[in-house]
Amino acid sequence: MSQKFDICVLGLGYIGLPTASIFATKGKKVLGVDVVPAVVETINQGRIHIQEPDLDILVRAAVQSGNLTAALKPAPADTFIIAVPTPFQHASANYLPDLSYVEAATRSLAPVVQPGNLIVLESTSPVGTTEQIQGWLLDELGPTARAEDYLFVHCPERILPGQMLRELVTNDRIVGGLSEQAAQRAKALYETFCTAEIYLTDARTAEMAKLTENSFRDVNIAFANELSLICDRLGIDVWELIRLANRHPRVNILRPGPGVGGHCIAVDPWFIVAAAPEEARLIRTAREVNNHKPHHVIATVKQKASRFKDPVIACLGLAFKADVDDLRESPAIEIVEQLHREGVGRLLVVEPNVRELPQRLVGKAEWSSAEEALAAADIVLVLVDHRQFKGLPRRLFDQRVVIDTRGLWS
Ligand SMILES: NC(=O)c1ccc[n+]([C@@H]2O[C@H](COP(=O)([O-])OP(=O)(O)OC[C@H]3O[C@@H](n4cnc5c(N)ncnc54)[C@H](O)[C@@H]3O)[C@@H](O)[C@H]2O)c1
Repeated sequence: MSQKFDICVLGLGYIGLPTASIFATKGKKVLGVDVVPAVVETINQGRIHIQEPDLDILVRAAVQSGNLTAALKPAPADTFIIAVPTPFQHASANYLPDLSYVEAATRSLAPVVQPGNLIVLESTSPVGTTEQIQGWLLDELGPTARAEDYLFVHCPERILPGQMLRELVTNDRIVGGLSEQAAQRAKALYETFCTAEIYLTDARTAEMAKLTENSFRDVNIAFANELSLICDRLGIDVWELIRLANRHPRVNILRPGPGVGGHCIAVDPWFIVAAAPEEARLIRTAREVNNHKPHHVIATVKQKASRFKDPVIACLGLAFKADVDDLRESPAIEIVEQLHREGVGRLLVVEPNVRELPQRLVGKAEWSSAEEALAAADIVLVLVDHRQFKGLPRRLFDQRVVIDTRGLWS
């Protein structure tokens, strides 16, 4: 591909695809790169492979305008944006960050990068990663490459699944540069579509800011989850308790759930714990409290199921939160899988945002519609408060044992 692009976005998932598309609809020539051929093909047909409201319209417009093309490999561009996954190492007991995707994406730039290029790390990353990508790129380019020839920034993404297209434009942004010049270049670029404030800082502060935001959420959810355990022990309705406590003018307790999932809140606090294990005691404890919550849900289901001879359990929802199709790190999946492992009963799974039973649950649970599952169930386990579930007639739940981990009607 000999064409020179304005922007090359590496990773066409929940973050990279909306970002690439919005730049393209603002007139930038954008190359989207992904290592999965099916993703590249789908996007080049103007279609999408993930679920996000109105993203299909944006991508179709971007591709039809001729400004967005997808490919398997990067090509020369003024700016490279890295939006690849940054999970933790699943095999590691200490949840150490897995930067292998970021490293591979960075090294893949070496054949096409040119002096003066801006390299933006959008992936949520441990403190020091922007410096690391500079190191990886220079290493790949060889001894004649000079650090000062390339501009590096971290620009973390804060958009919320389900509202991504609006938040992409209206959320404030933080841009942390390895140099002031790099930060200024990135700010000018994001002003192409961002109508909110763009705050400049150094790369390490920007990296820590994103991790801090998600740790703040995690700690607050852990407080709500801990309250739910205490309330179960003391026979108090946690939803009623929180509703009343929140009448205090300076109290705003979040809602408990079956645990914390997703690609961000369940992952990012570990990057802080890994970097400062002695100091990050509250952050670690919050992770542990939230990781424990699925076990409490499982124990509750087992206790209720013991009253039935061959219990049928309708499990409503698999996604990590309401009204999305994202199953990553979802506590609902963990709960269904563990219920199967412990032989608790027949498991009917309902997930309106996904087409089929995820591979991880094949042979362990049965795929079902909400109506069929509720008709057959002895126990209804609400794992996600999808709007489809809120709309179900209450009479379908009559005569069933309902375990509502999300406060569907509260
Ligand atoms: N999803 C969110 O709501 C959200 C919000 C804020 C920040 N983030 C962060 O953004 C980053 C990306 O998350 P996501 O949700 O878009 O992930 P995703 O899994 O949806 O998409 C990542 C894409 O990158 C591709 N990829 C992997 N290696 C590649 C490589 N070397 N070159 C090109 N493409 C490659 C994958 O095939 C995949 O399509 C993560 O660091 C995440 O923590 C995500």
